[in-house]
Amino acid sequence: MTETYVGAIDQGTTGTRFMVFDQGGRVVASAYEKHEQLYPEPGWVEHDPTEIWENTKAVITQALADAGVDAEQLAALGVTNQRETTVLWDRDTGAPIHNAIVWQDRRTTGRIEALEEAGKTDEIRAKTGLQADAYFSATKAEWMLDNAEPIKTQRARPADLRERAADGEIRFGTIDSWLIHNLTGNHITEVTNASRTMLYNIHDLAWDEDLLEEFGIPRAMLPEVRPSSDDDYYGYTDPSGFLGAEIPVAGAFGDQQAALFGQTCFDPGEAKNTYGTGSFFLANTGEEAVESDHGLLTTIGFQRSGEPVQYALEGSIFITGAAIEWLEDVDLIDNALDTEEIARSVESTGGVYLVPAFTGLGAPHWDGRARGTIVGMTRGTNRAHIVRAALESIAFQTRDVAEAMEADADIEITDLKVDGGAVKNNFLCQQQADIIEATIVRPEVDETTALGSAYAAGLAVDYWDDLDELRNNWQADREFTPKMDNEKADAMYSRWNDAVERSLDWARE
Ligand code: G3P
Repeated sequence: MTETYVGAIDQGTTGTRFMVFDQGGRVVASAYEKHEQLYPEPGWVEHDPTEIWENTKAVITQALADAGVDAEQLAALGVTNQRETTVLWDRDTGAPIHNAIVWQDRRTTGRIEALEEAGKTDEIRAKTGLQADAYFSATKAEWMLDNAEPIKTQRARPADLRERAADGEIRFGTIDSWLIHNLTGNHITEVTNASRTMLYNIHDLAWDEDLLEEFGIPRAMLPEVRPSSDDDYYGYTDPSGFLGAEIPVAGAFGDQQAALFGQTCFDPGEAKNTYGTGSFFLANTGEEAVESDHGLLTTIGFQRSGEPVQYALEGSIFITGAAIEWLEDVDLIDNALDTEEIARSVESTGGVYLVPAFTGLGAPHWDGRARGTIVGMTRGTNRAHIVRAALESIAFQTRDVAEAMEADADIEITDLKVDGGAVKNNFLCQQQADIIEATIVRPEVDETTALGSAYAAGLAVDYWDDLDELRNNWQADREFTPKMDNEKADAMYSRWNDAVERSLDWARE
């Protein structure tokens, strides 16, 4: 019998990966392509949705060719994606009407401040579980409807985008929708992605009419919301399309929820932290949507067909891995892989703290006007101190959200599953264990994001039977236990908080 697999598209902030997994959750094939980051103005970040789709096709084709896997051997396809990033496209031509506005983009900070002044943020939090912020899709879509150039159309149709959107001619989607549309032709989103738009009521599980009105988003432009693992499938790939096969697209996840699922955090209290461009610490809270009093988000964790949604608490840290990219950009390092050795070449940062608030600060501070800062430098400060401070900032920011999580959910985090590119760095993992005073557990397959969406799709087509089978696939690679004495860790963390204070509200007008 021919071997079958499940494929997963992982469309992230910096690039697109396609991975093929076997029944044991092992990686059979993988290909990756970066896309261009566009910064039209300070604080603005855009991606070209067409480039993203072209790269998606390219990495799928490449990975299958490299591994000698035929498209017909794919039992299902799953999708996972950078969340919140917003695309508007023309229903008839499929052409985007503007570049995607990326989750990191701060152009709508003023609009958020207006909502704060108008006293609307409590209502937004109550309905969506989110802290009103330019991070989410609502104000990005609103901005595009207000500012994108009207499309010139041959037909006698209104040029005004909002009118066209109300007529169903313009579609809204996060990146999952954009990919599912291109893969299957259907206008669908998945529930964890919907929960990041600031337009979706996470208790009623419906687009919220009041919020649609607030942001001027016509109902007709929104996708249908479906479970993360969908027994009815989102659709099929076109056999005459680039894959040359009709494959069910049956699972999707926002990438952070995908990692939660890939780490098999299926039960309340289980938590993971993913270290990518930013870091996203999610704890499963089961069927209860736990409200946060400490700057975390209440969000949807996952949903399987016919089952209730499972909620999560989330600490969203905007810049972690991107701080290491920045070290590269400013020529302090040649390669991210060198940071471990450079950081170990000094015993400490010598009192230097680096707060990478390049796009404001997310959880738990939510300050869109915070900016990056380095404090504590002396004449003796060298490159290694700064590199070490950048790595430590990742661990400190994780403690910020871990403390909030413990306070909100009344739990003690004793061990934390980690994943994402940066966890290859043993120095970082050890530092993380020391600073949060808990055991860090690194799994064997650290591409848990792609794995989570493969699991969602594979469960829908009965490639995998149940959650227990997935739990059995999970294997630890290494555990890091705290070695630093708690008093020292607490003292360092207290100085970190002083440094954060200095970065807050820096970009005020
Ligand atoms: O919320 C943003 C997050 O989904 C981005 O993740 O891994 O693409 O940086 P990543």
